[in-house]
Amino acid sequence: MVTRDELIQKAIDIRKRAYVPYSEFPVGAAVLTKSGEVYEGVNIENAAYPTSCCAERVAIFKAVADGHYDFETLAVTADTDRPVPPCGSCRQVMSEFFDSDTVIHTTNAKGQIKSMTMEELLPFSFTPEDLNK
Ligand code: THU
Repeated sequence: MVTRDELIQKAIDIRKRAYVPYSEFPVGAAVLTKSGEVYEGVNIENAAYPTSCCAERVAIFKAVADGHYDFETLAVTADTDRPVPPCGSCRQVMSEFFDSDTVIHTTNAKGQIKSMTMEELLPFSFTPEDLNK
């Protein structure tokens, strides 16, 4: 199982692959499955701007497409003044797959790390359980 710092390093390393011709704001993410595999993601933008996808979702979607639905943790990094806050859409996607006590590591190029639980990132989120009548 990779350590927190190894997972963060994978997010830092993959960031160079971001496809960001519009924002020029590369983001890297790495998600660790409960079975110990790491999937990396970068933000992928599009000339039709709203169809772009964030690094966190690319990492999670790659893992899900490979058959992983249970996750230990996720790391995300960008060159921001504070550890990069995941956007609202990514928080909602994380809440689909992450337990409320799953810890997410947000980081930046300065090496700052802010670790938050899923519940802290997105309290009172709509989850699959809410669909159970
Ligand atoms: N972005 C991410 O990939 N993850 C985040 O946590 C914040 C924002 C991307 C979306 C867009 O490609 C660029 O950063 C600027 O918003």
